Amino acid sequence: MKITIDGPAASGKSTLGAALAKQLGYLYFDTGVMYRAVTLAVFQHKIDIHDEAAVTALAQSIRIEVTPPHTLDGRQYTVWLDGQDVTWNLRGPEIDANVSIPSAYATVRHAMVAQQRRIAERGNVVMVGRDIGTVVLPDADIKIYLDASVEERAQRRHSELLAREQPSDYAEVLAKMQQRDLLDSSRAASPLRPAPDAIIIDSTNKPVGIVLAELEHIIADRRLDKAALKRVTP
Ligand code: DC
Repeated sequence: MKITIDGPAASGKSTLGAALAKQLGYLYFDTGVMYRAVTLAVFQHKIDIHDEAAVTALAQSIRIEVTPPHTLDGRQYTVWLDGQDVTWNLRGPEIDANVSIPSAYATVRHAMVAQQRRIAERGNVVMVGRDIGTVVLPDADIKIYLDASVEERAQRRHSELLAREQPSDYAEVLAKMQQRDLLDSSRAASPLRPAPDAIIIDSTNKPVGIVLAELEHIIADRRLDKAALKRVTP
């Protein structure tokens, strides 16, 4: 089965997607890291982030690989950018503040989507992002759209930063998240929105365990539906 989880920043996609994939024995793939890696490469190569052609050429030339964690420091996976471990570099405030710019370029998205589809072809997968159910895997078996109030999402991100001993100011995190929400949902190329056949879950005020149980329920129901369909159409 292919399961997609889309939603805005800090809606719980990665935590839930990873937990679900682990439980099902599926591959977990967080597509946000690809756009983050492109943004980091733009800074490393000192390219003008507003130069769409240059950013696209760079996106087409870099090698982004995601592997199981190669060290135990709380990471869910290791991200390699041209052979360099950049897992934590992708989570810095400079990346958060700029990642929506390359993500809005249709040509950059084209290159990333092709790689994402190739990864999904490997088989059972839980793929998370913004446009997975709408554009990348429109034929997915189960599409989830995970939402939460922007205040709660900002609080989650603020707590995450503090837990990693990084300086953080809640009001600033909230303002930046509102700005990123606006950019991600108003861009012309594959904007953030639920697929028409997505199941929308609001995780505001819900502990992770409760949302995970909801997801498990949805998957179990869908599996039963598929099994019943197989029986009537052999
Ligand atoms: O999920 P995240 O916060 O790591 O994603 C970082 C950015 O990447 C997000 O602001 C928009 C972009 N993105 C995207 O445009 N499409 C995706 N499928 C995943 C992420």
